[in-house]
Amino acid sequence: MRVEPTEAALGADIADIDLSGDLRADDLDAIKEAWSKHLVLRFRDQDLSDEDLLRFSRYFGPLDKAPINPYGTTWVPENPEINVISNILDDDGKRIGGLGDGECVWHADMTYNEAPVHACTLYAVELPDSGGGTGFASMIAAYEALSDELKVRVTGLECKHDKTRNSTGQLRKGFEETYADVSQIPGAVHPIVRRDPETGRRALYPGRRNNAYVVGLPINESEALLDEIWAHVSKPEFAWHQNWQLGDLVMWDNRYCLHRRDAFPTDSRRHMRRTQIGGDRPIAA
Ligand code: SIN
Repeated sequence: MRVEPTEAALGADIADIDLSGDLRADDLDAIKEAWSKHLVLRFRDQDLSDEDLLRFSRYFGPLDKAPINPYGTTWVPENPEINVISNILDDDGKRIGGLGDGECVWHADMTYNEAPVHACTLYAVELPDSGGGTGFASMIAAYEALSDELKVRVTGLECKHDKTRNSTGQLRKGFEETYADVSQIPGAVHPIVRRDPETGRRALYPGRRNNAYVVGLPINESEALLDEIWAHVSKPEFAWHQNWQLGDLVMWDNRYCLHRRDAFPTDSRRHMRRTQIGGDRPIAA
């Protein structure tokens, strides 16, 4: 097994390993070490069933169930921890997965929960000829590059993370279309700067821009501060872009990374299987 870091702020390939069986303890230790350092790992040329994906994911902690889909269930009822990201319709015209073919803006997954997921894995089963790539950005690098003035200003502040819409802007089942103002939108409140209890590393934890609110600030001040933070975290120097190949498995640390997805042509097919590794409440810096 070899670790081949990208030249970007995050990301590494793990080569020469087959994830379809049990892992050797020394390989698992090396994967964990590389993951802690590089935040996003890519394993190419894998051939994984859902059971393989679940077994591999569980090496890193207990799994969370996939979010409830627009049909009021999870995408794979026999394996509720498997989330399907796809624009494909089945023979009855029903969606087999979520998020369609549009752009998904920069976000971390499920931060609207009190204890958001620690990490996700995403495995490529079917891919479009063009588009549908996924960008990742290091929020540790983004925090470290903040001006001293902005570090002081954001440390200790908290942000509300919108529970009502997904990263394509679609309304989730059971929520209102509009609220009196952004401060009234339901969602969990988390520190804007979080600290890793084991390593002491600090990271920005912005969640997603749309409908975010900095708790306690007048709305115009909250909007201005969030615009400043988002202009910073979206800079290309913190990012690495994954161009998918069939059989790629990518795992990312959802605590310290954002990700986004490019749109792809409506008449093409994209099918990914995802798992969510459970997490804890973020700790303020
Ligand atoms: C996601 O936002 O979790 C989906 C990313 C992707 O489909 O590439």
